[in-house]
Amino acid sequence: MSLRDPGSPTALRIAPSILAADFASLGAALHQLDAVTDWVHLDVMDGHFVPNLTLGPALVASLRPHSDHLFDCHLMVTDPRRHLEAFAHAGADSCTVHVEAHEAAAALADARALGLRVGLALNPDTPAAAVLDHLGDVDVILVMSVFPGFAGQAFIPEVLTKVRDLREEIDAHAPRVDLEIDGGIDQDTAGGAVAAGARVLVAGSAIFRAADPLDAARELRHRARSA
Ligand code: DX5
Ligand code: ZN
Repeated sequence: MSLRDPGSPTALRIAPSILAADFASLGAALHQLDAVTDWVHLDVMDGHFVPNLTLGPALVASLRPHSDHLFDCHLMVTDPRRHLEAFAHAGADSCTVHVEAHEAAAALADARALGLRVGLALNPDTPAAAVLDHLGDVDVILVMSVFPGFAGQAFIPEVLTKVRDLREEIDAHAPRVDLEIDGGIDQDTAGGAVAAGARVLVAGSAIFRAADPLDAARELRHRARSA
C-alpha cells in the first residue's frame, strides 16, 4: 500500500475535521478544500470511549475518491484493535489511537503491521509522560485541546504547556514525528498552538461552519503562520 504524502514534520499543515461538516455534501466539500488544506481528519467515535457516535469505514471508503489528501483517522474508540484493519482497507492512510484506550501499545504495532501511519492521541488531562515511551513507535502525536466527543467546543489553553513539552521531546528524540493538535482550533487559537510547537492543526467548526470554508481555511493558515 502506498500512503499519501504527509508533508514535512516541520511544515504547517491544516487538517479539516469533517465532523463539523454537512454529512450530506461531504464529497464536494472535501474536493473543494483539497486546494487549500493538507490532510483530511476523520473523527471515529464508538459511543463508548466517548458519548457520541460518528462514522465508520464505509464512509471513509465512500469519501476516498473525493480527495487526494492523506486520510487521518482519529479513533476515539475503546478497542481500536478491533477496527484498524477495516479502516486500512477503506483507504485510511493514518490511524491514531488514544493512549487511554484498551491495549493502545498493541494497537500501535497492529497499525504499523497494516502499513498505516501510526498516531497516538492524549486527552487534555493525560500528561505528556504517558506517550513519551512510544515516541519511537509512532508517526504522529495528537494533543487533544478539548475533551473528545463533539465539534464546536472551546479550546483549553492549559494544554499548550504540554504541547511545548512534547515539542522539546520530539525535537530531541524523534524529529520525524508530527505534532498535531485537535479541538477548538480557530483563527484566534491557531497562532498560540503553532508557537507552542504544533505543526498539524485540526479544525472543524472554524472551517466547515464558516460562511466560506475555503476562505476560512486560508485565513487559518495565514494566522497560524504569522504567530
Ligand atoms: C473532537 C474531535 C475533533 C473536533 C474538532 O472530539 O476529535 O476533531 O471535531 O472540531 P472543532 O475544531 O470544532 O473543535
Ligand atoms: Zn479529532
